Amino acid sequence: PARSGLLAINEEGGVHVQQRARPRRNRKSEGLRSMVRENVVTPANLIYPLFVHTEAENVPIPSMPGCVRHTVDSVVREVGEARALGVRSVILFPKIPEELKTNAADECYNPSGLVPTLVATLKAKYPDVAVWTDVALDPYSDQGHDGMVSDDKRGDGGCGRIMNDETVEQLCRQALCQARAGADVVAPSDMMDGRVGAIRDALDGAGFTDVSIVSYTAKYASAFYGPFRDALDSAPRESSNAPRNKKTYQMDPANSREALIEAALDVAEGADMLMIKPGMPYLDIIRRLREATDLPLAAYHVSGEYAMMKAAVERGWLDEREAVMESLLCFKRAGADAILTYYAKQAAEWMNE
Ligand code: PBG
Repeated sequence: PARSGLLAINEEGGVHVQQRARPRRNRKSEGLRSMVRENVVTPANLIYPLFVHTEAENVPIPSMPGCVRHTVDSVVREVGEARALGVRSVILFPKIPEELKTNAADECYNPSGLVPTLVATLKAKYPDVAVWTDVALDPYSDQGHDGMVSDDKRGDGGCGRIMNDETVEQLCRQALCQARAGADVVAPSDMMDGRVGAIRDALDGAGFTDVSIVSYTAKYASAFYGPFRDALDSAPRESSNAPRNKKTYQMDPANSREALIEAALDVAEGADMLMIKPGMPYLDIIRRLREATDLPLAAYHVSGEYAMMKAAVERGWLDEREAVMESLLCFKRAGADAILTYYAKQAAEWMNE
């Protein structure tokens, strides 16, 4: 064959790029690729978020195809199925009936409320599953806020304020109630200042030194929580005295140094694990925190990310399995140890194949 003269010719007469280091050699077969693979995700790395309510039937969540608000029986079954696939952690999110919602959100520490009852049921049935509970007022708030709203107009834009310290006291009551019911992990998602230390002290003072705190350390005021708020009817209300957004407590998506400030406080206050949320758009934050602390990190692949994936899959624009497994791996590569994802059960099924 005619030679262009652009490359060297080897002894066999073939063209030859004079290149000694060829990274492709480590990719030449699945045997070698799997030998040099830097990250793997296993079902044990996944935490399965589940929505639960007190109604008689499961109710599908339109903006989260494949997810439902479970009845208590159904959620117990779902946890059993996930466990059989190797998912060892679940986190519970309740939809609370409107008539139980108040500004102070006192239902959040009712020992016979939905979450404590369910935690006790799950721990009795599956003692080896780690049951996580969310610590925040929003599902219980008639304002749709994670904290109590003042009735003055001294806050952002002439609205009411989210009252930090009064809220922290409620969060301590909530975390204690969850611990008494048997929660293994309490996860404050409210972003009030000082809540991790206060909850740690409250738990320790009541004898719950073994209950872990996974802090939502870097939780951003994100548009990607929309479907979750649909699921629980927990969005900030028009009728609230406070603004219809969570920007005075959740972080500004423009910031990353601020995540380091939050992380340093949570570490000092005794957090056992730090969470970054949302997930995929915030991989840089996962990486920064990975470099700043040796504590385990969790990433939350949130409802809006799930909805985007499902929407593209429904249109045939993405291969669901490939896209989900790649996304989970990206969290690991960025530095997360654990991943909260609505795909937990499905992904574990794929991993087991
Ligand atoms: C509530 C809470 C939210 C999520 C987890 N805990 C919503 C919010 O802050 O408005 C979002 C999870 C998701 O979108 O999947 N404190």
